[in-house]
Amino acid sequence: MTANYETREHDVLIIGAGGAGLRAALEALAQGASVGVVCKSLLGKAHTVMAEGGIAAAMANVDPADNWKTHFRDTMRGGKFLNNWRMAQLHAQEAPDRVRELEQWGALFDRTEDGAILQRAFGGHTFKRLCHVGDRTGLEMIRTLQDRGVHQGIDVYMECTVTRLLTDGGRVAGAFAYWRETGRLIVFKAKSIVIATGGIGKAWRVTSNSWEYTGDGMALACEAGAELMDMEFVQFHPTGMVWPPGVQGILVTEAVRGEGGILRNKVGERFMERYDPKRMELSTRDVVARSIYTEVKEGRGTEHGGAYLDISHKPAEYVKKKLPSMYHQFKELADVDITKGPMEVGPTCHYMMGGVRVDAETAQSTVPGLFAAGEAAAGLHGSNRLGGNSLSDLLVFGRRAGLAAADHAKRVAAPSLDNAQIEQAEKELLAPFSNTGTESPYAVHRDLQEVMQNLVGIYRTQEDLKKALLDLEKLKARAAKASVEGSRLFNPGWHLSYDLKSMLIVSEAVTLSALARTESRGAHSRIDYPNADPVWEKKNNIIVHEGGEMKRRESPVPEMPPDLKQILAEDKA
Ligand code: FUM
Repeated sequence: MTANYETREHDVLIIGAGGAGLRAALEALAQGASVGVVCKSLLGKAHTVMAEGGIAAAMANVDPADNWKTHFRDTMRGGKFLNNWRMAQLHAQEAPDRVRELEQWGALFDRTEDGAILQRAFGGHTFKRLCHVGDRTGLEMIRTLQDRGVHQGIDVYMECTVTRLLTDGGRVAGAFAYWRETGRLIVFKAKSIVIATGGIGKAWRVTSNSWEYTGDGMALACEAGAELMDMEFVQFHPTGMVWPPGVQGILVTEAVRGEGGILRNKVGERFMERYDPKRMELSTRDVVARSIYTEVKEGRGTEHGGAYLDISHKPAEYVKKKLPSMYHQFKELADVDITKGPMEVGPTCHYMMGGVRVDAETAQSTVPGLFAAGEAAAGLHGSNRLGGNSLSDLLVFGRRAGLAAADHAKRVAAPSLDNAQIEQAEKELLAPFSNTGTESPYAVHRDLQEVMQNLVGIYRTQEDLKKALLDLEKLKARAAKASVEGSRLFNPGWHLSYDLKSMLIVSEAVTLSALARTESRGAHSRIDYPNADPVWEKKNNIIVHEGGEMKRRESPVPEMPPDLKQILAEDKA
């Protein structure tokens, strides 16, 4: 069965070509490593582009009082103090340099009148901090990194899905993958691997994520022995489109609120006054998402089950200049002119705060040679991410992961590939062609989305989470029997049957962690435990895959040094 594949070798293999993957690739290249980037979609098509409103960095261009300490404090407060303090410190300190570097590489930011990078307000940030390009910041970032990567000579393997990490005596040795177009197999040999595959939004029915986001990297890392951390924290962005049904979940950038957009319910009340009278629409995402959800649940929602978001009180030219994508998105998809009337919006599954547990300095996981950065990694955001902190995360920790991965590759001998692992990976990947039942991967996926949407959503209870775990067991059994027809030539049903495996692993990790955390904190809201519990403020949830099973344990949150405690002390209340 083996030798049925081509082999490629790199010092550093990056899985995922969004902002974190591309930034890691550029850094590893700069260190002299041979770098391969493998992505299951087309290069440049990444969830990074859905961070539309800006990159958070304390540049102090608009609010001179801003500095890294305030950014650090805002990030820790937003994450309800569960964040890895060292990651939050490095992120706040290094983000301005990463933005300046991006500008040197060709990113064209909006400008202040005196020519500095313009910054706007966003939820939970004390100052105007988001460097932006209209409402297309993530797109500009990807364009810049991609151009530079191609010019610097990274090898890109597009439309290629990694289904297994290969190990050698406990350390990373390579990856097993297939070409989506032909179904042919490919094995990568690598001394270091960086997981930069983003999140898991496609396990929920209403999501801002596109088809690629099925938790692959988290599942790959977990199966290879890495730890997952804080998986219960799933971010529901408060504003996705709710109507028409075909576009439900598509992101409506927080920049609308950053530019002065107002939320109202069906009776015209500016309801954020009830939930966060101080910060109103610029409260943190967890609070705004719960507020909209509550308005709808209590019968004050809009015709299609959302809230109204209105920016039409601003001059039309201003709206079109600041929010060009939103203007076209609503005009073309919903026949709404946002310069004249409100949008209908509601929460959409957007981002995973949990992920692979990594070392703050190097982004290395608990498996030697395996690194993770961006949304696939845990720690920086704690229990709730502030908008705009994702793009700065990708740049800061993408760079750190690339640096450490290249350094690791210099220090270790070439690993050996194990034929038995490759044969096993091939057998698993091709199994859906020999399954004989009538179970369809599409049906299993639809049912998984219902379970996660209805039982592991914005508000959770013990009863729902227990039911979700039982349902996930049944779905796993169905997924294992799912069969596909046709050949290996571009076969979407077959592709989905692999994606399902990842989604089920990650969904189980989310549900197990959510059941264990008997408190409400950040994005994790338990109706049966509505308050934050100081005991849980000191614990991270850890998930490991052992003996074919997912196991959960707790790990103490690392103690913060006194100088950083001092920064928080002023504001913790
Ligand atoms: O709303 C937004 O523009 C999304 C930004 C983010 O997720 O950081």
